[in-house]
Amino acid sequence: MALRAYPARAPADWCPMLVLGIETSCDETGVALYDSARGLLAHAVYSQVTMHAEYGGVVPELASRDHVRRLLPLVRDVLARGGARLEALDAVAYTEGPGLAGALLVGASVAEALALALGIPAIGIHHLEGHLVSPLLSRDAPRFPFVALLVSGGHTQLMEVHGIGRYALLGETLDDAAGEAFDKTAQLLGLGYPGGPALAMLAERGRAGRFVLPRPMLASGDLDFSFSGLKTAVMTQVRGKVLAEQDRADVARAFQDAVVDVLVAKSTAAIERTGLNQLVVAGGVGANRELRGALDKAGERAGFRVVYPELELCTDNGAMIALAGALRLGDQAMHARATANRSFTVRPRWDLATLVQP
Ligand code: KG4
Ligand code: ZN
Repeated sequence: MALRAYPARAPADWCPMLVLGIETSCDETGVALYDSARGLLAHAVYSQVTMHAEYGGVVPELASRDHVRRLLPLVRDVLARGGARLEALDAVAYTEGPGLAGALLVGASVAEALALALGIPAIGIHHLEGHLVSPLLSRDAPRFPFVALLVSGGHTQLMEVHGIGRYALLGETLDDAAGEAFDKTAQLLGLGYPGGPALAMLAERGRAGRFVLPRPMLASGDLDFSFSGLKTAVMTQVRGKVLAEQDRADVARAFQDAVVDVLVAKSTAAIERTGLNQLVVAGGVGANRELRGALDKAGERAGFRVVYPELELCTDNGAMIALAGALRLGDQAMHARATANRSFTVRPRWDLATLVQP
């Protein structure tokens, strides 16, 4: 795991902070210990994937119950591996939303209770803000400002990022998120849940060009996306056919090629439009190898740098939440508020735009 101190250039009033990060927005219990002077000390993720796979998707009630079971043992484990006692913590950060209400409540209540008992601030973090800042934990971290391509199971957005809370939306999906399209297409191909990584693996054996799929909104002239038509196009191609293993791999390849083409073209256009020279890729789909290869090539051609979080930090994790917490608590006023106010809430639906500072 990369150990990295943040921020590289500390503001004058910034003081080092040891933050416990807790992520429970969906089907992964993530916990991390982040020291703003020394970097990420330890992190652990428990994935509920096998439990939900039986049902073909996340079952919210089961997710909450499993977070209850896993969270405290994970906190103990991460503290032990990070070499810190509970009393050494300066703050606790947790995902306040968006996500599943019950699952969010588990993380929020544990975080707030810990913070209350220790007399330290607790801060609720926007899940997407976590993904947006996660590349700052990578070995080859970007500097603000950058363009972020956020591609997860719930979101597909291009954002201009100038600092914590300083974001401008450049474009987003009008329907399905890229990860959602991967998951739904994988289901059509009988790959189970969650299908993204399985589809990507199958696509590696697929031959390019055997099936032809559209590139939705490639020529729309804006930076928005649409992926639901692509899934329908796959459905049309496979409906009523008995597909041999190689056919399935070829369909997977065609689907992945189409998604990657669109993501690369729009990201390159976002770089051109903003005049920035760094593209940061965050969210689960950012783990996709073909996407990474294609973005790297586009970056070489057009002269921009592409930065990815470490693979294990692309998907949901506590490290990104701890980091976002440390960044937000670096602000004195925010720190005072997080200590004084012990009431808390979760926000299953929460628009990132409401966090944007002028
Ligand atoms: O960011 P994330 O862990 O969770 C949220 O949605 O917030 O992203 C999960 C999504 C799922 O849709 C999953 O299928 C997709 O990321 N994913 C991938 C890959 N790994 C995860 N999609 C394509 N290729 C991958 N290698
Ligand atoms: Zn996520």
